[in-house]
Amino acid sequence: MRVQVLDLIKEYDGVRVVDIEGLFFEEGRFHVLMGPNGSGKSTLLEIIAGLTKPEVGRVLYGDRQNDFASVRKRITLVMQRSYLFNTSVYNNIASGMNYRGINKSILRERVLKWAEALDLNLLLYRNVKTLSGGERQRVALARALALEPDLLLLDESTANLDPESIIIIEKVLKDFQRESGTTIIFVTHNVFQAKRLAESACLLMKGSVIEEGESKEFFNNPHSELTRGFLGGEIVY
Ligand SMILES: Nc1ncnc2c1ncn2[C@@H]1O[C@H](COP(=O)(O)OP(=O)(O)OP(=O)(O)O)[C@@H](O)[C@H]1O
Ligand SMILES: [Mg+2]
Repeated sequence: MRVQVLDLIKEYDGVRVVDIEGLFFEEGRFHVLMGPNGSGKSTLLEIIAGLTKPEVGRVLYGDRQNDFASVRKRITLVMQRSYLFNTSVYNNIASGMNYRGINKSILRERVLKWAEALDLNLLLYRNVKTLSGGERQRVALARALALEPDLLLLDESTANLDPESIIIIEKVLKDFQRESGTTIIFVTHNVFQAKRLAESACLLMKGSVIEEGESKEFFNNPHSELTRGFLGGEIVY
């Protein structure tokens, strides 16, 4: 599902935290969103996911430029700090599908499929309270992927994981995107990870788009001095 952000302004306590004239996320692509702490990445994802209302502007979804209400079931956000229910891994992965009324046999199939993909099979009947932070993050991802959304929004989904888990998750996401044609918007601080994953990249600073474009151009030949500074690690945040 493609996404168009138009003339968006979001303020908290009179401070502008998102201010974007126009930004397009093309259908079926892997978009990576980068930026320093507090640059508005999470806020932008929350607005796209319909959780936060902007002061001005709008977001349009799909070819027919739908509003949020008609597409909400096709969108999934994995938040920076995901909430898990106090129950088993199995029930947590199933919870999103339960909520959306997905048929029980499909639900079971998908829980097992994504538990396997994210290496959670041996943990399926453990309460999530007993899991490590990295394991919990994988449960949140499995829950999101099992919904097979057309638009998947991921906020720092590998931030606390070890390199081995990061590689597993990156492969799972890439395979999922290729097979499903899902549009992914992935927020990360890690420039190396962004390079591995992005087809399109975007840099936000202080709520505004500094630069966006095709991955190759963005990383190899950035136009903005600020992008060069960010990619070169010169901007401290
Ligand atoms: N609910 C809120 N109330 C007040 N201010 C908020 C709220 N949510 C976010 N902000 C402020 O908006 C700005 C942007 O926050 P946001 O979480 O979008 O940044 P971010 O780019 O995701 O940062 P990080 O890399 O640290 O996750 C920050 O200055 C933050 O303090
Ligand atoms: Mg954030």
